[in-house]
Amino acid sequence: MTYRLFEEKHHASLYQKYRLTPPNEVKELVLKYLDKKKGPPYELAVDLGCGTGQNSRLFAPHFQNLVGIDVSMQQVQEARMVPGFDNITYRTGTAEELAFPDGSVDLLTAASAAHWFDVERFLLEASRVLKPHGCMALLGYTENFSLHYGSCGDGLNSIYAEVLETLRPYMSTRVTGASSKLESLFEAIPFPDKERIECIPVKMQMSVDAVLGFVETFSMYQTYLKTEPQAATALLQSTKMRLLQEMGVSSGETELEFTTNYYCVLACKPQ
Ligand SMILES: C[S@@+](CC[C@H](N)C(=O)[O-])C[C@H]1O[C@@H](n2cnc3c(N)ncnc32)[C@H](O)[C@@H]1O
Repeated sequence: MTYRLFEEKHHASLYQKYRLTPPNEVKELVLKYLDKKKGPPYELAVDLGCGTGQNSRLFAPHFQNLVGIDVSMQQVQEARMVPGFDNITYRTGTAEELAFPDGSVDLLTAASAAHWFDVERFLLEASRVLKPHGCMALLGYTENFSLHYGSCGDGLNSIYAEVLETLRPYMSTRVTGASSKLESLFEAIPFPDKERIECIPVKMQMSVDAVLGFVETFSMYQTYLKTEPQAATALLQSTKMRLLQEMGVSSGETELEFTTNYYCVLACKPQ
């Protein structure tokens, strides 16, 4: 079964605006791994569940060609609208049926996406299309962020914890899989050479509006919005007011410190 929770145009536009680009430390970790296990040439990378292309654009400069693939046409259309990346092609398609010849891909990535895939079918395809010593890098973060501004930490975090509690009933069981940092997918990878890095702490500055826009991209928020539109809209409005009040500021453009933990599953196909 393919999950289709990312189909709406509005949702795709939010993605373009608010999704996080994975940090450089995660990119460097992946590229170092590929360098160590396989080495050049770096002809083709494929970014699965590419959404609006943040992760595709991050990796593209390191490959001759990068293909971003997503099951959602709207997400792909948004991705295509970003200019300046001539070596990226975006296609609609699924991670379970990859239109690439056997042994043709140097690196397969998926950012915050692999938990949506059918594990068995995806791994069969990944094993088929990767070159000998080609690698996969499946990365993401859990939604337990922490927020900090001046001397406010606990207050901001408890407001965010309340938001998560409200949204939790709308969380797909697939997202629960992401919360386990792809543990079962990792176990299922048939390559002996594999590792799972569970915690790469990343700090960034983000405005209050961007934090709320990011929350709005969550599939569980979009499900809540469909089920209870007024309550969902009110949740974001009241959360903004509460965060600003706690920080003692009035503008949603005020930046706070946003900390999250990335995880990354790395695996290398044998000869
Ligand atoms: C949480 S979003 C992540 C998007 C992007 N990689 C990012 O980091 O923001 C997951 C994406 O995976 C796509 N997706 C879900 N199941 C898929 C599948 N089986 N094959 C390809 N894409 C899939 C969704 O349409 C969605 O755009």
